[in-house]
Amino acid sequence: MPTIKEILQTMDYGPAPESTKEAQAWLDQHGRRFGLFIDNAWTEASETFGSFNPADGSELAQVTQATSDDVNRAVEAARRAQPGWVAMGGHGRAKVLYALARLLQKHARLFAVLETLDNGKTIRETRDADLPLAARHFYHHAGWAQLQSEEFADYRAVGVVGQIVPWNFPLLMLAWKIAPALAAGNTIVFKPAEFTSLTALLFAEICVQAGVPAGVVNIVTGDGRVGEAIVNHPGIDKLAFTGSTEVGRIIRKATAGTGKKLSLELGGKSPFIVFEDADLDAAVEGLVDSIWFNQGQVCCAGSRLLVQESVYPRFIEKVKARMHNLRVGSPLDKSNDIGALVDPVQQQRITGLVEAARAEGCEVWQPACEMPVGGSWFLPTLITGASTSAAVAQTEIFGPVLVAMSFRTPGEAVQLANNTVYGLAACVWTESISLALDVAPAIKAGVVWINTANQFDAACGFGGYKESGFGREGGKEGMYEYLTPLAEDRRPAVPVVAEKGKVKQSEEGNPFAVDRTAKLYIGGKQARPDGAYSRPIMGANGSFLADIGEGNRKDIRNAVEAAHKAAGWSKATAHNRAQVLYYIAENLAVRADEFAARIAQQTGSKNAAAEVQASIERLFYWAAWADKHDGLAHQPPMHGITVALNEPVGVIGIICPNENPLLGFISLVAPALALGNRVIAVPSEAHPLSALDLYQVLDTSDLPGGALNIVTGSADELARTLASHFDVDAVWRHDGSLEGCAEVERLSAESLKRTWTGGAKGRDWFDAKQACGKTVLQHASQVKNVWIPYGV
Ligand code: NAI
Repeated sequence: MPTIKEILQTMDYGPAPESTKEAQAWLDQHGRRFGLFIDNAWTEASETFGSFNPADGSELAQVTQATSDDVNRAVEAARRAQPGWVAMGGHGRAKVLYALARLLQKHARLFAVLETLDNGKTIRETRDADLPLAARHFYHHAGWAQLQSEEFADYRAVGVVGQIVPWNFPLLMLAWKIAPALAAGNTIVFKPAEFTSLTALLFAEICVQAGVPAGVVNIVTGDGRVGEAIVNHPGIDKLAFTGSTEVGRIIRKATAGTGKKLSLELGGKSPFIVFEDADLDAAVEGLVDSIWFNQGQVCCAGSRLLVQESVYPRFIEKVKARMHNLRVGSPLDKSNDIGALVDPVQQQRITGLVEAARAEGCEVWQPACEMPVGGSWFLPTLITGASTSAAVAQTEIFGPVLVAMSFRTPGEAVQLANNTVYGLAACVWTESISLALDVAPAIKAGVVWINTANQFDAACGFGGYKESGFGREGGKEGMYEYLTPLAEDRRPAVPVVAEKGKVKQSEEGNPFAVDRTAKLYIGGKQARPDGAYSRPIMGANGSFLADIGEGNRKDIRNAVEAAHKAAGWSKATAHNRAQVLYYIAENLAVRADEFAARIAQQTGSKNAAAEVQASIERLFYWAAWADKHDGLAHQPPMHGITVALNEPVGVIGIICPNENPLLGFISLVAPALALGNRVIAVPSEAHPLSALDLYQVLDTSDLPGGALNIVTGSADELARTLASHFDVDAVWRHDGSLEGCAEVERLSAESLKRTWTGGAKGRDWFDAKQACGKTVLQHASQVKNVWIPYGV
């Protein structure tokens, strides 16, 4: 007699196919040939390409390859529509967004089946994940539209936004992009991926039904050339891109110096960490959701399994046993777990990476299940024996391929987790809340799931650290990506030069140092410039004031090293950081007259004393914020909470403004320090002495060595080095040099660092609206969302 277990093992599911009737009818209704959706009308389909069902290779429809003229027309329509869309007001827009949410729900099955046909992902996922989440995004953002005048009173819509998405979550990515953009009052030119345009085209119809005014949402289809035309169009004010890191870099370079706002959600190689005390069976289920969801074609897929050594063999056995039970087959079959890959090209790419791993001596394991015939498929795969530097351990495979490794200690787990250029997401499995909450902040990733995986919600921001991109989608932080502070519109066209007073004879010469060659300040010590060159600094009345060190690449490298060694500053308590800033303010106040004299001597400003007082106040202001830029506790539809933490960005290079040599310096350096960043500051190139005089103030204010490093010299050269340095996380440039800002943005593309550039415009550093507030806090921090389910 077979045991019950044996019987259960031999039982299988019967086929449970989802009907495609309605989706096929919708395609037929359009003659299986689609034009573009511009200004709420369909263009004639001219040059087209096929959109195929990845499960069997059959053609579903012909879709238009948009031309640059089409993109022009779409941008023009969006531009025309934007003032009217804003004029509808928050409530007017909220009603439209709500209608979109309702219509998505009403047509959920049609969307789900069409998505499965076009993308190859299982109906279980499109029905249970993509559609509910897409609708939820429109609901949530209907709410932000409604609350806009209250919650974002100091902001306006950015304008016309270009949005480019990939093929892995065609409708969901559309919702992530379109919902916040519309809520904020922007109009849109949207491009789906060339493999998967169909649900975006169905959405266009929904827009008309929901009452989206003409020109507010425009959908242009086609390949990367269409994306390029959107990126380079001068009528686009903001770009939001999700896709490969490679294209993200191209877009960063292409937009450098244009002033276009940019958010990039790029690749990942996310760790899935299992500690020895974890509920191993639950962790295995989490792993299934993490790496085999959507055939592993997920930017935040937990593709690197890191298991504590003591449970590694046991866990791997459990994973293999579970892999045997994964059902690969028709995506339309409701009981299948793994569907088809989006396109044969993806299958070839994955095969290439897996075979290279095998050739390198890795063990490649796949369950003994049948590979469906026709279409593009890849069996769930487990790779062991890979070195940490192997291509499979570092490259985003974007397929159902898991690479497993072991670790001994939590410290080693964190080190391995961070050992990649990416930083999108991570999973941590342990029954110890103390361990989980100790590890989560140490992992450099925008999302950390504790004892869960691949959870998303419109209220919780999503986005990356490091080369996984910047900007967030979802949550309040996601709304800011589609808003511009009103204060930006008040900025003067060019930097404001101080009104000159009479420079007294007594103010000539250096009132501070005997040695008239000021040094650099690196690691808390004064340092001679590596090149042993110096440059003279002249006063407002033309007299010689001092020689300053001419910093070079080596000095910047030393400063970056010192900043990294000062990691303790980022871990110091916010209270402690605030105290240090107050102390700097106090010590500056004691010497206010000397600093005022120095400002007057350099710039001739008749407001020098006021600049010192404003600088002291600004230090107080940022000290005040140090322990108040709190995160949030979101309540997504999960039994648990999502904690949004504001973390420091890391090491920030800051090119300070030329004008206001003290206030400009402090206005940028103090917030960065307040939020726990370490800084390499390049003071005003024309008037650097005010920053250099601060050395003595800093030395007596308990600022740890390396938290703030000051390198003088050519702003262009030093900015170039900072922007190219792979260990610098962000560069801010505010010296009014348009070309300099463009160069920083261009060079930062290599390591995808965050940038904050002021362009050619000035900024009134005395005006708190222009120089303080949320925008600065946002540049000085990045949000990490930690998901903590409980009671499960
Ligand atoms: P991709 O980054 O080339 O495509 C994403 C979108 O960008 C598509 O709509 C495409 O038409 C558009 N695009 C392509 N070139 C462009 C350009 N120069 N300017 C503007 N838009 C452009 O990604 P692809 O080729 O579909 O996939 C290649 C690999 O990228 C995948 O195997 C995967 O590793 C990675 N990938 C990562 C994604 C993520 O969410 N992290 C999403 C898609 C792909």
